[in-house]
Amino acid sequence: MSGARTVLDRCAELARITADAPRIERVYLSAEHAAANTLVAEWMERAGLRTWQDTAGNLCGRREGRIDGLPALMIGSHLDTVPDAGAYDGPLGVLMAIAVAERLRDHHLPFALEVIAFNDEEGSRFGTALLGSQAVAGRWQDHWWDQKGRDGLTLRRAFTDFGLDPGRVSEAARTPAGLVGYLEAHIEQGPYLEAEDRSLGLVTAIAGARRFRLSILGEAGHAGGTPYPRRRDALVSACEAITMIERVARESGENGCIATVGQIQVQPGAVNVIPGQADFTLDIRAATDVQRDAMWDGIRVEIERMCSSRGTRLEVFETHSAPACECASWLRDAIATGIRRTGDDDPRSLWSKAGHDAMAMGAICDVAMLFIRCREGVSHHPAEDVREIDVVRGIDAYEQTVLEIARLYDVRDGAGAAAGRTDVRSGAVPACFGRTR
Ligand code: GLV
Ligand code: MN
Ligand code: MN
Repeated sequence: MSGARTVLDRCAELARITADAPRIERVYLSAEHAAANTLVAEWMERAGLRTWQDTAGNLCGRREGRIDGLPALMIGSHLDTVPDAGAYDGPLGVLMAIAVAERLRDHHLPFALEVIAFNDEEGSRFGTALLGSQAVAGRWQDHWWDQKGRDGLTLRRAFTDFGLDPGRVSEAARTPAGLVGYLEAHIEQGPYLEAEDRSLGLVTAIAGARRFRLSILGEAGHAGGTPYPRRRDALVSACEAITMIERVARESGENGCIATVGQIQVQPGAVNVIPGQADFTLDIRAATDVQRDAMWDGIRVEIERMCSSRGTRLEVFETHSAPACECASWLRDAIATGIRRTGDDDPRSLWSKAGHDAMAMGAICDVAMLFIRCREGVSHHPAEDVREIDVVRGIDAYEQTVLEIARLYDVRDGAGAAAGRTDVRSGAVPACFGRTR
């Protein structure tokens, strides 16, 4: 059972594990997170992997290589979702990785193969994102513990309620020496592959993202009795800010920045009261951190100027920051080889405007990504869809990529090579696998 049909059937089965049926919603440290881990662990075991849940709630499955204890090539994606999600963002990459592990079960690879199902890639519950993969990358931040989720529970409380021990989260961290690299297959979440009628794409880099909670503070007052010159309407200030944000991001062009306001709340929130406070989120991304940070600096100055002209005030809280991540050229080359072996002689390269666990993993090992076309580029929406033929080609390319990495490893080092530093940017085949930084 390692075909595309099985992968798609399993995506449908996972979609039924939801907090909000018939809509799909599985957030970090929820009952649905636990149920998804249990189900996916069964599929991993059937593929011949030994499974465990790590101390941050990620599900791991491992098969040793030619000898026990070799560094691992890690392959996977995430199982958590946004609210009212599609069925493929995350799960497709996990289930394709399991399909590859199953296909390769009789190969004696020169590294261990690990499939990982991360949790909290989306950040839907606590506002931060990539919590699971940041734990694995050893980047967990203590100040996250007191952040509250939408239900008012702190991350610390949700952790214990889930049966995890906050004191042990650091045990989820992997060492660079223990990893050959990290590969992730994912739906494209954009329209470029579809526009060129291609099944697969090769990711060059992943956009750096910053997320903020912005509050505009004004003054509540009577909707009838307060004359306009005396009003300090927080919502009107927020509306001006949001319109300006969209305009400057649009004007930055195709390879510029993308900025989105996805949530807004108004207080006190009554039909006959001038809004005294407007809280909204901002998600801002670009191919380089320099572009992204310059855009944010400009937006902040402009909002402050708009606020002062209306007698309101801006407060800023940054909830998430992930640097842009360049995919390692030797892993990109391996993916290109994998794609070519499916019959596409000239694989399309593109950068990812969506965030991925690979960004967090990039702090400790070389990473690369394979994109699978999604219908009409739709994602973070229930209409998200993939074609079976693309998944067929995707699994073939993924399997061939792992075999190509194994071949490179054999050529250079043979099994059991000592861990050493890889050169991500030179394009050279790394001297050995597993970074020391
Ligand atoms: C994750 O899907 C993100 O890019 O927000
Ligand atoms: Mn997503
Ligand atoms: Mn995703």
